Amino acid sequence: MKIAVFSTYSYDQEFLIRYNTGHTLSFFSVPLHEQTASLASGCDAVCIFVNDALTSTVLELLHRQGVRLIVLRCAGFNNVDIPAATAHGMPVVRVPAYSPEAVAEHTMALILTLNRKTHKAYNRIREGNFSLERMMGFNLHGRKVAVIGTGRIGKAFCRILKGFGCHIQAFDIYPDSDLVAEGILYSPLTEALSGADIVSLHCPLTDSTRHLINTETLKLFKPGSMLINTSRGGLINAADVIKALKSRHLGYLGLDVYEQESKLFFQDLSEDIIEDDLIMRLISFPNVLITSHQGFFTQEAMEQIAITTFANIDAFSTGGELINQVRISE
Ligand code: NAI
Repeated sequence: MKIAVFSTYSYDQEFLIRYNTGHTLSFFSVPLHEQTASLASGCDAVCIFVNDALTSTVLELLHRQGVRLIVLRCAGFNNVDIPAATAHGMPVVRVPAYSPEAVAEHTMALILTLNRKTHKAYNRIREGNFSLERMMGFNLHGRKVAVIGTGRIGKAFCRILKGFGCHIQAFDIYPDSDLVAEGILYSPLTEALSGADIVSLHCPLTDSTRHLINTETLKLFKPGSMLINTSRGGLINAADVIKALKSRHLGYLGLDVYEQESKLFFQDLSEDIIEDDLIMRLISFPNVLITSHQGFFTQEAMEQIAITTFANIDAFSTGGELINQVRISE
């Protein structure tokens, strides 16, 4: 099949070329949107990532050009209008799990960095500053951690937390029976958020989870607590979180995702004027750590993404079962 592959960097191309099962790939570094949809002309499928916006208009354009399949190189599909794709008879396939451990481990990296300030120590020591002033952290052992969403990533994260001796208070609309058997406590969202030292988000972005963290829910947070989001930026109302940081109610913030990340993340903008005032304000706090949607970014995950992506394409091209198809009800 002929496939237009959008939003690719050197590392995407390396793994997709290595695991290609015989398809013709056209790589584009630009994201897929209304202005770039024509690049897919003559292709059977488009292959996209987290920040390509497949609105109903873009899907209509692709459909008119003869594109028959939408291939996601990621798990989340909030960036694709699934009912519109279905109406055009274009199946949407995804990589449901590439490495839950990669994201869970990155979540712990954010927590440990914010808490023990290893990023500051690195810079201080290089400047000959061996002082411990303002470097004090807290023991994770015995702390209460609220895990919101205990699917593949949340589950892997719970197991890491258990190793650290944390008390886990989980919330999920479908509690996981394995975790219950392992002694993880589930409670309603408000109860999980209240009194937690750390709140970590691992649920998908849906209409019901958009801005789950806002001024009202932040009031439930324990003063000085830590909020971590490695799931999707839209789970958090960034303006409300900034207010909570300014009032010192929120003690730490770790983000791997940001609601307006599509204009920023994955790009080198070091010589540009960044116009997003919210992210610039967030960056300015000493107790905020932001990474550029790199939770998934391990060798193992990149291999799995490439292997599953071609398995999905092969299944479509041979008329096989699309086991990773996203359905409207999901
Ligand atoms: P999953 O589908 O295995 O688990 C999601 C869990 O959230 C399920 O248990 C589901 O019942 C629960 N859930 C759904 N609605 C909820 C609600 N309203 N409140 C509480 N829980 C709810 O997904 P997985 O693989 O664990 O991924 C979680 C999220 O992580 C993805 O949706 C994606 O947005 C994000 N992600 C981030 C990556 C990164 O690089 N930072 C990489 C991969 C995924």
